[in-house]
Amino acid sequence: MESAVGQNGIATNPAGMAKYLGDWAGDYRGGALAVLRPASVAEVQALMRLCNEFGLGVVPQGGNTGLVSGAIDSKGGLVVVSLERMNAIRQIDEENFTLQADAGCVLQAIKDACEARDCLFPLALGAQGSCQIGGNAATNAGGVNVLRYGMARDLILGLEVVLADGELWSGFSGLRKNNSGYDLKQLFIGSEGTLGIITGVEVKLFPKPAKTDTAYLGLASFEAAIRLFNRARSDCSDLISAFEIIGSECIELARLIDPAMRAPVSAPVQVLIELSSSAAVDLNGLMAGFLADAMDNGLVTDAVLAASTAQARSFWAIREGLVEGQAKRGYHVRTDLSVRISDIPALIEQARRFVANDHRGWIPLAYGHAGDGNIHFNVLPPPELAEHEARARGSEIVAGLYEITVGLGGSISAEHGIGRSRRKEFWVGLSPAHRRMVAALKNALDPKGLMNPGCLLPSTEGLP
Ligand code: FAD
Ligand code: LAC
Ligand code: ZN
Repeated sequence: MESAVGQNGIATNPAGMAKYLGDWAGDYRGGALAVLRPASVAEVQALMRLCNEFGLGVVPQGGNTGLVSGAIDSKGGLVVVSLERMNAIRQIDEENFTLQADAGCVLQAIKDACEARDCLFPLALGAQGSCQIGGNAATNAGGVNVLRYGMARDLILGLEVVLADGELWSGFSGLRKNNSGYDLKQLFIGSEGTLGIITGVEVKLFPKPAKTDTAYLGLASFEAAIRLFNRARSDCSDLISAFEIIGSECIELARLIDPAMRAPVSAPVQVLIELSSSAAVDLNGLMAGFLADAMDNGLVTDAVLAASTAQARSFWAIREGLVEGQAKRGYHVRTDLSVRISDIPALIEQARRFVANDHRGWIPLAYGHAGDGNIHFNVLPPPELAEHEARARGSEIVAGLYEITVGLGGSISAEHGIGRSRRKEFWVGLSPAHRRMVAALKNALDPKGLMNPGCLLPSTEGLP
């Protein structure tokens, strides 16, 4: 492998590999024969040719911020291919609002470069300081601005991919419309490293918002929050860029990161709403009028409109802090559920009842991207419970939460993907026709089953 990636591009000793073999949340620990860090597309091709020749499984890895063990494999007989050295922005085309970057480019670097050119790349998630654009494509990442701009899939114009046998497919075109046959990039978006290694990504940009208004609201119930969202959609002229919901029980977790953190309102359900516009629209007047109306009719019980960028940042710090606080507290049940937006109150109500009745002492939390019908319903173990017991019980809780979600016609993975942690539940939930089509695609693109074995799908032998 040294011939493919050079001496600097390979680590085989435990110390050199350690950082690539553990996930962000501390949930998974993996193994590998080697960690390869190619520095160019040609190096990725060379290493894939060798892996293909010797039948060696490959785990592509981006920023390693995934939450479903897609980039970590515990079996250890594989090579991890980290894209971190391929981190250049190749081109920003302001005239056509497009950007091309190496797959290993960190999302924040892309966002910063766009901002410097008065453009916006709207994908936004708590992990943006570490996750890579290739990882975002491979997971079809979501985040907090999906309701306005869509998921990664909606933002990607083209991909460059090294296939399982080392051949390069370059699908960059700069075109907004290209209706000529199968749209092959869509196969790789959300494929979680199981079909090829993404080496380059071409995305759409947008005008940079000239103005953003942010408010933090208190409400009596999740049902009120969904009614508020529906009103906001019509009353705020399609200018909503985020509508995040936070159960008040989550605030304690944000304080684990910063004990001085305080929610600006005290109410059982809290909403972080953001409006933004690139043109000269009276956003402030729009937001103030909308909130006055929502308070008059009792939908919102308390509201704080950010008076400065710093205050808006402090609202977002609560939203980001609660996620970090969960990881800091230790093992917890983590989900990523989606239902129809109108079913969010029922999902949370049923899930809370299930935890209270069947898992006494466990602490439920609900937060997420309510504007997309996406709730992270997480459950913290009682502090005194030993971790191995908590993990065993945690699997039962996850199964119960999935049953409730599927019962509501929802999905067990709104945005994080399937990885290794949800593979069984994903696969059993598919119809025979769906399984056959997935298997046919996998067999066609990766006939030897080398690409991220164990992730998303059963092993190649287990495919129909
Ligand atoms: P990795 O974790 O390295 O890999 C993820 C998967 O993609 C793996 O299966 C891997 O094999 C594959 N992969 C990575 N790079 C490539 C490549 N170049 N070619 C082929 N396959 C590849 N996710 C959301 O959707 N929304 C959120 O709001 C959100 N918030 C988060 C907040 C925090 C604090 C954290 C830690 C995570 C969050 N995530 C969120 C999850 C995660 O950040 C996303 O899934 C992200 O897109 C993963 O990118 P990555 O570069 O870290 O990929
Ligand atoms: C979030 C991640 C966990 O919404 O998806 O914060
Ligand atoms: Zn999320």
